[in-house]
Amino acid sequence: MKTIYAEMTEDRIDGDAIAEAGRILREGGLVAFPTETVYGLGGDALNPASSRKIYEAKGRPSDNPLIVHICEAEALRGIADDIPQEAWKLAEAFWPGPLTMILKKKASVPAETTGGLNTVAVRFPSNRIAQELIRAGGGYIAAPSANRSGRPSPTIARYCREDLDGRVEMIIDGGEVGIGLESTIIDLSELPEKAPMILRPGRITQDMLQSVLGEVGQDPGMLGMDAAAPPKAPGMKYRHYAPKGILTIVEGRREAVIRYINEQTERCGGAGRKTGVICTDETVGAYQADVVRSAGSRADEETVAHSLFRILREFDEEGAEVLFSESFADGSFEQDAAEGIGQAIMNRLIKAAGHRVVKV
Ligand code: TXA
Ligand code: MG
Repeated sequence: MKTIYAEMTEDRIDGDAIAEAGRILREGGLVAFPTETVYGLGGDALNPASSRKIYEAKGRPSDNPLIVHICEAEALRGIADDIPQEAWKLAEAFWPGPLTMILKKKASVPAETTGGLNTVAVRFPSNRIAQELIRAGGGYIAAPSANRSGRPSPTIARYCREDLDGRVEMIIDGGEVGIGLESTIIDLSELPEKAPMILRPGRITQDMLQSVLGEVGQDPGMLGMDAAAPPKAPGMKYRHYAPKGILTIVEGRREAVIRYINEQTERCGGAGRKTGVICTDETVGAYQADVVRSAGSRADEETVAHSLFRILREFDEEGAEVLFSESFADGSFEQDAAEGIGQAIMNRLIKAAGHRVVKV
């Protein structure tokens, strides 16, 4: 299939291209589009054939459910049953925005979209291109991240093209995304018996959620540190975000981390292997690897979140084979506990590293 490309910005939305994309979606086709978190690969969430196509285009296991994207909070009523008060409170506080809620599903949502589960994941994104597209496509658009399964989620349209050209009807280029990591997922489907639980960390943090709901738990399997606790979000168990090189996270005091990484990259370089390092503005001058990338500043971890997936893809482009990253876990570099988006960064980094963490 020949993929159609359209370019626009949130301030200058191309109405004709959106109308065309809407037609494609309503006829069962697929459109990749920008959101504020990462690019999504959209299909009609209420059409089982569309969901099957999404799995096929991504090369994704079909037991891994999709997030349904809506363009107004009221649309929840069309796909979710027994909606708890908590859901409306969160919608009021954080929608449109990078928060996905898991709720009991209505029969109208096909099993193909929810991977056979009796719950449905729902998100109302804030990106205006996404909102217009969802409206044009009928109001319920299933959209996983627009990468081939296992690759880092795309933060620019070129990465969608690399992964999906010829596999989808259309790709909308809306420039670089803002946040760079996928939405926070919170499970409300077991209320009132069980407290709301975070299944995937993101820009909307546990503190922010607790300020609205009171007690909010975290899936013990979420951070992926404990192999004995499988995560509840089916997608979290798969190998993810993996660069082609072998990535190791190095945890410890700043000087020890720098020394260890430099020793390792020197040794690997000596053996003829191309090396790469993910570090920060504070340390970027201290490394001697072949490809040294600062993800941003420790003083502003949103910059790190914004760059992480791009850097993982750049290592592949550069052919880097042995990779190291500084840690962003609580207490690394003697910093205060990671507030904000630090936990989400570590969650993605640990998966990209296939759980290889070295303490020095
Ligand atoms: O920011 C985002 O959420 C992006 C953009 C495109 O909106 N989308 C995204 O989708 O990250 P995806 O498919 O890459 O990740 C969805 C995650 C998976 O880990 C999946 O297992 C989980 O959500 N999920 C979906 N429905 C679920 C359900 N009913 N119960 C538990 N987990 C669910
Ligand atoms: Mg994904």
